[in-house]
Amino acid sequence: MWNVQMLALVGMVGYAAADVKTNYTSSVDPTKLTIPNIPQTTSHDVATQCQYYQPPVAYNPGDWPTSWQIATSNGMNTSAEFTALYNSIQWANAPNIQPRQLAPTGGLVLPGYDTVNDPDCWWSATQCTKPKHSGVNADIVQCQEPGVWGLTFDDGPNCSHNAFYDFLKQNNQRASMFYIGSNVMGWPYGAMRGLKDGHHLAGHTWSHKLMTTLTNQEVLAELYYTSKAIKFVTGVTPKYWRPAQGDLDDRVRWIASQLGLTAILWNLDTDDWAANTLPGVTTQSVQQNYQNFIAMGGNGSFSNIGNIVLTHEINNMTMDFAVQNYPAIKKAYKHVLDVATCMNISHPYIEESITYPSFDQAINQNASTATGSGVSPAASGTSFGTHSATVSAGALFIATVFGVLATL
Ligand SMILES: *[C@@H]1O[C@H](CO)[C@@H](O)[C@H](O)[C@H]1NC(C)=O
Ligand SMILES: *[C@@H]1O[C@H](CO)[C@@H](O)[C@H](O)[C@H]1NC(C)=O
Ligand SMILES: *[C@@H]1O[C@H](CO)[C@@H](O)[C@H](O)[C@H]1NC(C)=O
Ligand SMILES: *[C@@H]1O[C@H](CO)[C@@H](O)[C@H](O)[C@H]1NC(C)=O
Ligand SMILES: *[C@@H]1O[C@H](CO)[C@@H](O)[C@H](O)[C@H]1NC(C)=O
Ligand SMILES: *[C@@H]1O[C@H](CO)[C@@H](O)[C@H](O)[C@H]1NC(C)=O
Ligand SMILES: *[C@@H]1O[C@H](CO)[C@@H](O)[C@H](O)[C@H]1NC(C)=O
Ligand SMILES: [Zn+2]
Repeated sequence: MWNVQMLALVGMVGYAAADVKTNYTSSVDPTKLTIPNIPQTTSHDVATQCQYYQPPVAYNPGDWPTSWQIATSNGMNTSAEFTALYNSIQWANAPNIQPRQLAPTGGLVLPGYDTVNDPDCWWSATQCTKPKHSGVNADIVQCQEPGVWGLTFDDGPNCSHNAFYDFLKQNNQRASMFYIGSNVMGWPYGAMRGLKDGHHLAGHTWSHKLMTTLTNQEVLAELYYTSKAIKFVTGVTPKYWRPAQGDLDDRVRWIASQLGLTAILWNLDTDDWAANTLPGVTTQSVQQNYQNFIAMGGNGSFSNIGNIVLTHEINNMTMDFAVQNYPAIKKAYKHVLDVATCMNISHPYIEESITYPSFDQAINQNASTATGSGVSPAASGTSFGTHSATVSAGALFIATVFGVLATL
């Protein structure tokens, strides 16, 4: 198999841009991305749907944090690579803010924070999005163009969400997809399809922890290894990210800024993931949220600016909320767009070979012609880069642990 040895030969690109500290490698050319020939299901039964497949890109698990554990795990924080990155950062310039406390129940300890002055621009306490500290990238919170629904889905990729991605494709609809690093390594096909279908990919941390509760080292590792995973699998390095539960303050923003990352939050939250899980959140209350947000598209709330709506791809329930409400959203809003497009961000990745349409191009229906070469919603392929011969189509395994991937 071409795998780890191959990567060592192809890989070392060094720091990708003068102001961005990365040391990511990938054998994948994002402009020539073809979907591997892997048996995929579109079953809506989770047990059937979530069958393990042979990964198109083999890797050495010793080079990565443990799946769904803090990204300093598996010795990452003492690796030469991470140590070099850590030491290249001028920590003396970081805002002097201590990690937040977690309550025994798992939530943030908010009491004691000065919410009146909000010195740290801590979103969880005040929903602050304009940094108080200098040298920190401000968050993107809503699309600026009038009448735009900013379409975003968190927590992918996952084992074959093909029915949902098919739905988006049939509607020629792009979204911003916030991918969890552990999921990208666990379900690489989903991430490749996301890019191939023209969606805007962004990071969503390695293990989905509350970022303000982590040490500087842990925050850096969560961000770094997520960007590295997306680069490794798809060939692009995102310049945008979203923290789990929106939990960020100026210390976390500053560390993200060192990696060239800007946070994309939201101004409308459907609570879709929490239906029938959190007290008071039901299928009905989530549908009511959708209905309210749809009504706002028609009653003048967004006649001078757009929104960004928080929704999830996590499971059939959350995807179904989006599918059911999509026709009404399209009717009530002038435009439904991914965030890169609504914000005229033509290069949301460090690699400038992939280009997204500007707002003007998108609304003039020229989106598909404006997309980067090789990324086309209509394209399909049965090989992965030039290495199709190594992809064996037959093997299906039940994935239980991340480590299994590398031993196949
Ligand atoms: C590395 O991270 C682990 C947690 O994953 C932590 O227990 C350990 O103290 C860290 N080591 C150093 C040298 O920072
Ligand atoms: C880049 O990563 C390699 C290991 O993959 C490491 O040996 C090297 O020191 C790193 N370079 C920098 C500048 O971080
Ligand atoms: C628009 O609709 C929303 C949701 O029903 C409502 O909360 C808001 O007050 C309405 N705004 C106007 C200007 O009617
Ligand atoms: C992956 O998808 C399955 C099936 O839809 C779901 O049950 C699971 O929670 C998802 N996992 C993550 C980490 O989002
Ligand atoms: C969710 O599952 C149902 C069947 O239980 C199916 O009809 C529906 O299409 C699924 N939704 C998505 C988005 O896959
Ligand atoms: C996007 O670009 C167009 C054309 O240059 C411009 O009119 C518009 O203000 C821009 N929108 C944003 C959000 O930057
Ligand atoms: C859309 O694309 C076509 C073909 O490339 C071009 O002729 C036309 O001018 C474009 N329209 C707009 C509004 O950009
Ligand atoms: Zn999330």
